[in-house]
Amino acid sequence: MIKYEINGGKRLQGTVTISGAKNAAVAILPAALLVSGSCRIENVPDISDVRLLLQILADMGVSIRRKSRHTLELDCTRVRNIVAPIDLVRRIRASYYLIGAELGRFGQAKVAMPGGCNFGVRPIDQHIKGFEALGACVDQLDGYVCADAPDGGLTGGHVYLDMVSVGATMNIMIAAVLAKGTTIIENCAKEPHIVDLANFLNAMGAKVSGAGTDVIKIRGVEQLKGGTYCIIPDQIEAGTYMAAVAAVGGDVVVENIIPKHMDCITAKLREIGVQVTEYDDAIRITRQRPLRRANVKTMPYPGFPTDMQPQIAVCLALANGTSIITEGIYDNRFRYTAELMRMGASIQVNGGVAVVDGVQALHGCSVKACDLRAGAAMVIAGLAAEGHTTVEDIHYIERGYEDIIGKLRAIGADIRRIETYEDSGTDAAG
Ligand code: EPU
Repeated sequence: MIKYEINGGKRLQGTVTISGAKNAAVAILPAALLVSGSCRIENVPDISDVRLLLQILADMGVSIRRKSRHTLELDCTRVRNIVAPIDLVRRIRASYYLIGAELGRFGQAKVAMPGGCNFGVRPIDQHIKGFEALGACVDQLDGYVCADAPDGGLTGGHVYLDMVSVGATMNIMIAAVLAKGTTIIENCAKEPHIVDLANFLNAMGAKVSGAGTDVIKIRGVEQLKGGTYCIIPDQIEAGTYMAAVAAVGGDVVVENIIPKHMDCITAKLREIGVQVTEYDDAIRITRQRPLRRANVKTMPYPGFPTDMQPQIAVCLALANGTSIITEGIYDNRFRYTAELMRMGASIQVNGGVAVVDGVQALHGCSVKACDLRAGAAMVIAGLAAEGHTTVEDIHYIERGYEDIIGKLRAIGADIRRIETYEDSGTDAAG
C-alpha cells in the first residue's frame, strides 16, 4: 500500500513550479493521432494519467520518443490498431478523446466506455450527438463505443450542445479537424485547455477559430502535417498550491503559470482574506491573518472551477463563520466531506449544497483520497491540521499532480510517501 504521511502545522514558504496542464495533455496526446507526420509536444506533465495514455497510444502503434522528462515526439504514421486495450482505457476518463481522434483519422472507432473519478453519472451523450452531427453512426455494444463514418470520412456539421461540456467540446473539435467542410459547435466550454487544444491543432495545420468563446468553427483540412507545441501550465495544480498556502499560512510564489487563468480562484482567495500579487508568469500568495467565510458556486469557466471545490472547502472549513458551497457541475462531488469531518471539520451536505461552519483547527487522523481533487484536499487538510495525518488511496492524487511530495517539501511541508509491503511488513519512503 502506498500512502502519504504528513506532520501538519508547518508554514509554507518558497517557490513552487507548476507543470503542464493535465486536462490539456490528455486531449492533445490522443489528438496527435490526427497528425500524419511526427509532432513534438513540450511541457507534458509527468503524471500517471499521461503515462497510461502513452501506454495506450504505444499499444496502438504510435511511436513515442521521450526527448526529456517533459518533451515527447510522437509519430502516428504507423498506427495499426484502433482498438485500444480495454483494461487501460477503462482506467482513464480522457480515453474518450480516442473516439474523436480515431473517427477523424480512420473514419471508424472502437473504444471501451471511459472510466475516471466517480462524481455520479458521467454520460457522453453530447460527444455522441456531435459525432452523429458529423455523419457518424454510433452504437454502444458490450461496453464499447463503436463509431463509423460512411464512405470512410466525416463531413462538417452544426452542433448545439445541450450543456456546457469540456469533453464534448474538445472531442467534437478533434473529430471535425479532418472532416470535409465546416463544423460549428455552439454552447461550447471555454476552459483554458479548450483554447490550448485548438492552438495545438492549429500548430499542426488545422483551421480552428473561436476557441475560448461560446462558438467554435472548424474548417476541415486534408491533412495535419505536424509541428511543435508547448502545453499551457495547469490552472488547477496552481490553484491547489494557492489553496494550500491559504489553509496552512505562509508566503509562496507559484511560478510558470498564466495569472489570467487563475482569476476565478484568485478572486475567491482574496475574498477570504488571502493576499495575492500577480506577476507576468507567477503569483505570490501570502496568508497572515485568519480566513473569512465566503460562498462558492462551481460553474463552467470563467466561473469557479469544480476541480477546485474540495481544496477551497478545506480553507472554508478553517475560516471564521459559515460558508455555503454549491456544486454546479456534478451531482455527487461532496463524498470527501465525510473524510474532512473525521479531521474535525463541521460540514452538512444536502444534495448539491454544503454548509461549512468554520472551526478553529483540524486534527490529524487517517483519511482516504476518494478521487483526484478530493485527495489533494486531504493533503491540504493534513498540512493545515494539528498532529499527524495519513492519506491513503493516493494513486488518485498521482493521476494529476506531478511530484506533489517533492514540490510540497521544497516549500517546507513535512510530508513523505510511504510504501508498505504487506508480506514483509517493511516500509520504504520515496
Ligand atoms: N455531461 C453530460 N453529457 C455529456 C458530457 C457531460 O451530461 O456528454 C455532464 C457531466 O455529467 C457533468 C457536466 O456535463 O455534469 C460537465 O461535464 P464535462 O463534460 O464538462 O466534464 P468532463 O469532460 O467529463 C472534464 C475534466 C474534469 C472536470 C470537468 C469540468 C478531463 C479529462 N476531465 O471532465 O476534470 O471536472 O471537465 O471542468 O478533462 C479533474 O481534473 O479532476 C477532473 C475531474
